[in-house]
Amino acid sequence: MDITILGIESSCDDTSAAVIRGRTLLSNVIASQDVHRKYGGVIPELASRAHQQNIIPVVDTAIREAGIELKDLDGIAFTRGPGLLGSLMVGVSFAKGLSLSLDIPMMDVNHLQGHISSHFIDLPDRQLAHPRFPFLCLLVSGGHSQIVLVKDYGEMEIVGTTIDDAAGEAFDKCAKVMGLPYPGGPVIDKLAKEGNPKRFKFAKPSVDGFNYSFSGLKTSFLYFLRDEMRENPNFIGENKADLCASLQSTIIEILLNKLVRAARHYDIRDIAIAGGVSANSGLRRAIVEEGVRRGWNTFLPEFKFTTDNAAMIAVTGYFKYQRGEFAPMDVVPVARISR
Ligand code: KG4
Ligand code: ZN
Repeated sequence: MDITILGIESSCDDTSAAVIRGRTLLSNVIASQDVHRKYGGVIPELASRAHQQNIIPVVDTAIREAGIELKDLDGIAFTRGPGLLGSLMVGVSFAKGLSLSLDIPMMDVNHLQGHISSHFIDLPDRQLAHPRFPFLCLLVSGGHSQIVLVKDYGEMEIVGTTIDDAAGEAFDKCAKVMGLPYPGGPVIDKLAKEGNPKRFKFAKPSVDGFNYSFSGLKTSFLYFLRDEMRENPNFIGENKADLCASLQSTIIEILLNKLVRAARHYDIRDIAIAGGVSANSGLRRAIVEEGVRRGWNTFLPEFKFTTDNAAMIAVTGYFKYQRGEFAPMDVVPVARISR
């Protein structure tokens, strides 16, 4: 029988545990923390506390739903970073304790490699389409916007990255300006469906290479609203859907522009997207359309693997286990990873 790995994810505000056998997912449990909603963003201190409360019941449920016992585990994969240090520490310490008590190895996982590796997961009842190496992955989340050249399971090169805000941050910050709840991405996505994406124009960045920038867009959006509201204090309320649709289509255009250039430069046709923003319906549609035009094989993650989850950490751990890349007992979490 293939090896069985427990994955643990606690880098931000979701506590998640998953069990994978080989690369087939047996369970994936996610406890999201609602406590942050009323603050309009994640409060690190509250996040660590909630992870501490959630981690044992979440792991317990993942083991039970997988139909296995703790003694059946061959290894434990955990997110080492990047993320909130206090949150990461809960997962890392838990993994160490369990690894010691079961006498099985641990694999430390880079959260961003995890998001990309969600494309390697299989489901028990269904084999998913996997991109072939080398492929390009547009990784767009709340903290990162990168174009990654994926050469093998553990060999990934960042060829473009944001020089300021991430795409998810642009969604969330602009949503906040409009008085929409956190996280703003899904709310904008929903409202945009009723709006006209061509109604308003916002500043697009000019950045070198395959890099991104989103802080100018945020500022341009803010100033535009401020000016309009001088004339009409109800401007946001009266134009919410068009504002969301126009903002979303600008973000998508910025993202696709560099991705198309990178695909041409590296002469690659297998193109994937990953990360929280890859749940965006407009981005998913746009990338498929672009793919049809350019002869790409496009790979969209299942919705449940777009935002933070432990399944992606477990599958990354599985490949590390096979390569014999184990973490030492004195491993510590890292808030930033510079690769
Ligand atoms: O990957 P993720 O769960 O956490 C990080 O690692 O950052 O990504 C969270 C981000 C948030 O900024 C959220 O607004 C965004 O993903 N997001 C979306 C959608 N769903 C989540 N953005 C746009 N459209 C969506 N449907
Ligand atoms: Zn993430």
